[in-house]
Amino acid sequence: MNDLLGSGRYRIGIAGASGYGGAEALRWLVAHPHFEVCGVTSRANVGRSVAEVHPHLAGFYEDLTFVSDPEDLLGTQPDAVILALPHRFAAAYAHALRTVYPELRLVDLSGDHRLGSAATYRAHYDADHPYPDQLTSGDWVYGLTEQNRDRLAGARVVANPGCFATGAILGALPLARRAMIVGPVRHVAITGSSGSGAEAKPGTHHPERVEDVKAYKVLAHQHVPEVLRSLREAGLDREKSWWMVPQSGPFARGIFTTLFIDLPAGADADFVRDAFEQDYASEPFVRLREGTPRLTNVTGTNFCDVAVTVAEGVAVVTTAIDNLGKGMAGQAIQNLNLLFELPETTGLLVPGTRP
Ligand SMILES: NC(=O)c1ccc[n+]([C@@H]2O[C@H](COP(=O)([O-])OP(=O)(O)OC[C@H]3O[C@@H](n4cnc5c(N)ncnc54)[C@H](OP(=O)(O)O)[C@@H]3O)[C@@H](O)[C@H]2O)c1
Repeated sequence: MNDLLGSGRYRIGIAGASGYGGAEALRWLVAHPHFEVCGVTSRANVGRSVAEVHPHLAGFYEDLTFVSDPEDLLGTQPDAVILALPHRFAAAYAHALRTVYPELRLVDLSGDHRLGSAATYRAHYDADHPYPDQLTSGDWVYGLTEQNRDRLAGARVVANPGCFATGAILGALPLARRAMIVGPVRHVAITGSSGSGAEAKPGTHHPERVEDVKAYKVLAHQHVPEVLRSLREAGLDREKSWWMVPQSGPFARGIFTTLFIDLPAGADADFVRDAFEQDYASEPFVRLREGTPRLTNVTGTNFCDVAVTVAEGVAVVTTAIDNLGKGMAGQAIQNLNLLFELPETTGLLVPGTRP
């Protein structure tokens, strides 16, 4: 590993840096005082500069050009690599990197290392995991920072949570910890088009959805198993089910989540609100809001804004995140900070762009 005191910075590689998540990691890392980007990959852009592929990054990364293969990325001598690749390919790339350099730190943005069994993976990702032993190896720490901060400090490989999962878990965590969740949780979440990645596809392409709202993968979204796994670790009863209705929204960035959580009989509204205040008062990237969070307050940031309303035995929790920020590249950098034992907020404390 490079020496922070000697080189001044840890060297970060980004696999899949021509896509949305990779571009967002590049944007955040411009201002990071202890990380520098040493290598970027894309199969379609080998030899091109970062600015050619991402014009908004012109003036930064002047000498950085894309490579493709794991060996070429390792040739740039990274201390850590962010994997911003489609699922299955992320696991294969991780395997190739770790075969040559077992000590390499990795943060995987894909769903390839979030689940605990090959059967669950197959059921939700419509494919066999290329390295199923990785799902049971115990190596990969689930990177929901607010839940697993202690395990992330000093970890080597991190499964960054899904974007929907981040908004949902942060909405339910204080109640799961206190066994305050009764009955199935109803989960409605509306996402922007950047959640589908940079490649235009029928159905998710922005012009197809810009003046429309629709549900998809009703009761069948692949993030539900990681939500349940995470909340069960926090204390959720194993018998509880989770009903999710994802929706496609007519905007580019952000996920707005609504959870309907049935409370135990006689639950006190003040107790519920206090639970959120206690758990999140010292969380640097979770902000409690009155009434409702708003996407415009969090886009371009690493914040998750949360509001809770209690009446008639139900807690309605709403959360807002930037799917590319706290839902992806921002949280990846939060986790990288922990891996390198840096203050968790380093390079990430910026306000939202709109009131
Ligand atoms: N978008 C979100 O809001 C979001 C949030 C959280 C997590 N995620 C997850 O993060 C990962 C990246 O998402 P994204 O939205 O950034 O995707 P994206 O915009 O489609 O970018 C994918 C990147 O991977 C490269 N790539 C594609 N196929 C590849 C292959 N077979 N082998 C190697 N490289 C390949 C692409 O470049 P080349 O084709 O040129 O190689 C590109 O750089 C996905 O697993 C996604 O599920 C996405």
